[in-house]
Amino acid sequence: MTQARQRSIQVIAHRGASEDAPEHTLAAYMKAIEDGADALECDVRLTADGHLVCVHDRRVNRTSNGRGAVSALELADLAALDFGSWKDSEESPDWRDPGFTSVLTLERLLELVADAGRPLQLAIETKHPTRWAGQVEERLLQLLRRFGLDNPGTATGAEAAGDGPGSQSAVRIMSFSARSLHRIASAAPQLPTVYLMQFVSPRLRDGWLPAGAQIAGPGIRIVRNHPGYIARLHRAGRRVHVWTVNEPEDVELCVRLGVDAIITNRPKQVLAQLGRS
Ligand code: G3P
Ligand code: CA
Repeated sequence: MTQARQRSIQVIAHRGASEDAPEHTLAAYMKAIEDGADALECDVRLTADGHLVCVHDRRVNRTSNGRGAVSALELADLAALDFGSWKDSEESPDWRDPGFTSVLTLERLLELVADAGRPLQLAIETKHPTRWAGQVEERLLQLLRRFGLDNPGTATGAEAAGDGPGSQSAVRIMSFSARSLHRIASAAPQLPTVYLMQFVSPRLRDGWLPAGAQIAGPGIRIVRNHPGYIARLHRAGRRVHVWTVNEPEDVELCVRLGVDAIITNRPKQVLAQLGRS
């Protein structure tokens, strides 16, 4: 692996710099930007009153001081919760500043990206999209349109690190749901899409992806167990974005196999390992 190849791997901060700061908060994304991440990953869910918020779990119980499903709560209910203090520990700071640890709307995250002052991409994952029968994608595309981010090459991240289809747009949409990606591809075929995989079914083995999906998004366990799969994807003309790569030996494996992007909770450490700090 040449150094140039190593340096061209895109580093995506998973839920922000989520090892160092509470996931999906402004604090985590600001840290990821400061660390030099090429892109930010976020999960989006719809609130009961139709706002897209960046929350991973179906319920808010793990990452806030509240209880209940995001889909059953209104934005005002979520805004009253503390999404930071669950991360408090003796070694880490007191994550209680509501300015940085309140629920993060996708809209606020898009503002942050727009104000970053440097090329920065966004990898947005639709969560639980089937429940809403298209509303997650519809709302997402509306928002991207409003920010001028629904067309490749029109936005801040066009020249960001990495090559291939992902780098032509500031935004790519990811999902485990083929149906969700199909909806995105039908309404906005110009947006790159990433099909996330937890296992490689026989149908996927030769690099085939469901309609509407362009980029392959295997989990690191797939890469460890089926290293030859990466070459098959590349032979099929697929870019490969791997999640969630936190351990140095996994980063090393990804580099060796020539993956196109690494999604990690530790952008700073991964960038250092790639010789980019
Ligand atoms: O980036 C893809 C990865 O985030 C998928 O898994 O559960 O962390 O959303 P999850
Ligand atoms: Ca995710």
